[in-house]
Order: sequence, then C-alpha cells, then structure tokens
Amino acid sequence: MAKDKSDTPFEIPFVGDITKYLRDEAPSEIRKAIEGADKDEILAASYPYDEEMKRKAYDRHMEALQVELVKMFWDVKETGKRLVVLFEGRDAAGKGGTIGRMRQNLNPRSAYVVALPKPTETEVTQWYFQRYVDWLPAAGQIAMFDRSWYNRGVVEHVFDFCTPQQREHFFCQLPDFEKMLIDDGIILVKLWLNVDRAEQLRRFLARENDPLKQWKLSWIDVEGLKRWDAYSEAIQETLERSDSAQAPWTVIRSDDKKRARIAAIQTVLHAVDYARKDPKAIGAVDEKICGGIDVLNV
Ligand code: ADP
Ligand code: AMP
Ligand code: MLT
Repeated sequence: MAKDKSDTPFEIPFVGDITKYLRDEAPSEIRKAIEGADKDEILAASYPYDEEMKRKAYDRHMEALQVELVKMFWDVKETGKRLVVLFEGRDAAGKGGTIGRMRQNLNPRSAYVVALPKPTETEVTQWYFQRYVDWLPAAGQIAMFDRSWYNRGVVEHVFDFCTPQQREHFFCQLPDFEKMLIDDGIILVKLWLNVDRAEQLRRFLARENDPLKQWKLSWIDVEGLKRWDAYSEAIQETLERSDSAQAPWTVIRSDDKKRARIAAIQTVLHAVDYARKDPKAIGAVDEKICGGIDVLNV
C-alpha cells in the first residue's frame, strides 16, 4: 500500500496544512496529547477504556452482528419496512467507516448511502428539506445518510453557510418534519458519533500522511480545526433542540472505532423488529460509550 506522500499521483490541496496547524496553532495541551503518543495513549487520556477493543473480540461480535443485519434486511424487504439511519458527527468521527461495516453484506440496491454534496444554486432556493426528501426510502429499503439535514444546525452555522434566521426556521420545522416521517411509518435512527479533539487531530494527520486517505480531507476540515469550540456549541444546541421521545439521538463515543461500530450496529438492530431476531447475539450496548445526549458531556 502506498504510504509515502511522494506516491500521490496528483496534487491535493490542504495536504501539509494539518501538520502546520499542529505546529503553529494547536492549543498546547492538544499538541502535548498527541506528539509522541500512540493511539492507545491518546485513548487513555480521555476515553473510558485505555486501549482499543481487541481484534478477536471485535471480529467475533461483528460477525454475529452481520448475521443479524442480514436477517433484518431480509425482513425489511419481506414486510416492506422503510428504515432511515442518520450518521452524524464531526469530521473524522468515523461516519464513513461505520456505514461501510453496516452495508458490507447488504444489497446496495436496497440498502443505499446518501452523501449529498453542498447544495446547488437551484437547491439553495428550495425548501431546505426538499433534497433530502428525494432520497427517503420506499418499501423494503434502508437509507443510510452520511450527514443529513442536520448540516444546517452545525456545519452550515459554524461556516456561515446559512443565516441565523434560516437556522431558526430549520429548528422550527425540524420536529414536524421528523414527526411526519415517523407518522408515515418510517423507522428513524439518529446516530451521533462523538470524537475527542486529540483523536480527531490524530486521524487528520494520518489522512494527510496516507495518499489513499487524502481524498477525505477538505478545506472545511482544516478550517474546522480552529473552530472546535464553535462546533462544540453548535453541536450541543442542535442535539438539545432535536432530541425527543419520538426521535431521540443515540450518542456514541467513537475514539475507539471498533467499539463505536459495534454500538452503532447494535443500536440499529435494537430499533427494528424483525423475524428471528436474536437479542443475545446483538448483545447489550456498552453504556460507557453509548447512550442519550448526556453522553456528549462526559
Ligand atoms: P465531508 O466531511 O462530508 O467529507 P466536508 O467536511 O468538506 O465534507 O463538508 C462538510 C459538509 O458541509 C458537507 O456535507 C458539505 O456538503 C457541506 N458544505 C460544504 N460547503 C457548503 C456550502 N457552501 N453550503 C452548505 N453546505 C456546505
Ligand atoms: P476506516 O478508515 O477504517 O474508518 O474506513 C474507511 C473506509 O473503509 C470507509 O470509507 C469504508 O467505505 C471502507 N470500508 C467499508 N467496509 C469496510 C470493511 N469491511 N473493511 C475495510 N474497509 C471498509
Ligand atoms: C468520518 O470519518 O466521520 C467521515 O466519513 C469523513 C469526514 O467527515 O472527514
């Protein structure tokens, strides 16, 4: 696998900017937390576990979860269920990787990913939710949203892509919008993957140094580093204003990707009733890393 920056076949902007941020701008406690530290040391500083989940235990549990996912998928098709799973979280929280594991053994025609780019000139003039509605599932389908309408609460706010009035309007319409989906029979699961500041920076540095991962970097990631606190505030407000009994958030601490992927899949499986469901195989979610919105603050 190509590991050397010089292997990059074309010029990618932003490569180098993360290292520069670490050297020149990062708060000293963050710099100290990651310089010379390995993955587990970074984990130990802020996570309920001081090392990553062991590969063997992960593989065993993941395999059982994959079997349950296939059973669930079959049932969704058979009974015409419609399932929407939102994957939200800061950049590098692990949304893409988690989605990858969830869809691994499912037919991509019916279990599809929605990762919309920034709105076009026409789309910005439409009702904000309109372009997302286009991608809602029909009977027998599972839509996995890699980012979602929650962009307006967080990234659009942090980067002034929307006005404060547009954001307020979004928060006003949001409960009714989600209620309409649920009333219509859609199963809605909202996952928030939460990554710590030092671990996010470590992942960005790893991306910068791997030509195969550099595509994941954007100017928003680089600029977003400086806006950690603005993000924190926007996230807190958004989750508080959009958490309800009918459409609750599940927050998953994702500094350990393995534990996070398992918790995410368990949450989806627990949310759906399906034939031959085996609760023992799914297992209880790890409450140390997964729960309601108060998990954000631990
Ligand atoms: P990602 O992390 O999803 O790979 P980015 O970090 O580059 O992508 O962007 C974060 C989100 O911000 C994306 O959903 C993107 O569509 C959105 N976005 C970027 N530019 C704009 C814009 N001008 N207006 C609204 N949304 C935007
Ligand atoms: P990661 O860096 O491990 O978080 O995963 C990054 C990418 O791996 C994601 O964008 C996924 O598309 C892809 N992926 C999905 N499923 C798998 C899998 N089972 N094994 C390895 N990579 C995967
Ligand atoms: C993630 O890893 O959370 C996303 O898929 C990629 C990103 O937003 O940087």
